[in-house]
Amino acid sequence: MAFTVAIDGPAASGKGTISRAVAAHFGFAHLDTGLLYRAVGRRTMDGVEPIEAARTLTREDLARDDLRTGPVGQAASRVASIPEVREALLDFQRAFSRRDGGAVLDGRDIGTVICPDAEVKIFVTASDAVRAERRYLELREAGHEVTLDETLADLKARDRRDEERAHAPMTAANDAVLLDTTEMSIDEAVARAVALVQEKQ
Ligand code: C5P
Repeated sequence: MAFTVAIDGPAASGKGTISRAVAAHFGFAHLDTGLLYRAVGRRTMDGVEPIEAARTLTREDLARDDLRTGPVGQAASRVASIPEVREALLDFQRAFSRRDGGAVLDGRDIGTVICPDAEVKIFVTASDAVRAERRYLELREAGHEVTLDETLADLKARDRRDEERAHAPMTAANDAVLLDTTEMSIDEAVARAVALVQEKQ
């Protein structure tokens, strides 16, 4: 039976960690939809035209190990504003969301555009300072030379582009539950999300 959990929110809000933990808890499949846009953005850095890159995306493109960097994130948010790019990635995401056994998808427009009928919708937020610090620690851990200021500027630029684009902007669905993780530990945030899913099962 299909059961869809849609988890949206800005960069480094904690939505990825929460999504993976919720999927593991319930034995659901998980799709990080940001990775699709990152893979398309990465291909444009090699000179592939964005719509073409989205239409011909392969598993190898998704498996690259440099998709999590700041420049790829910026390239992702630029290609994400092109309607034809979003359209090219739509069927794959919808099919994933309706697979048997349950699915968690995280991104920016899952509750609004990709899965408007999702059984559970959560919009995860956190303060700018907390998000920048989380992403900074992640990047340093992965060996990237960045400063906290650069990381904050990077997140803000991306959020602005994601919120202001005309097509499928980042916004909470009317029926999404807001989960502000600013003052929460990972365990607390995951427990809250798990409880929200349990209520709907
Ligand atoms: O989630 P992540 O930070 O990896 O996403 C990278 C970029 O991909 C975002 O800044 C956003 O522009 C785009 N994106 C999107 N819709 C989604 C997921 C990601 O537009 N569902």
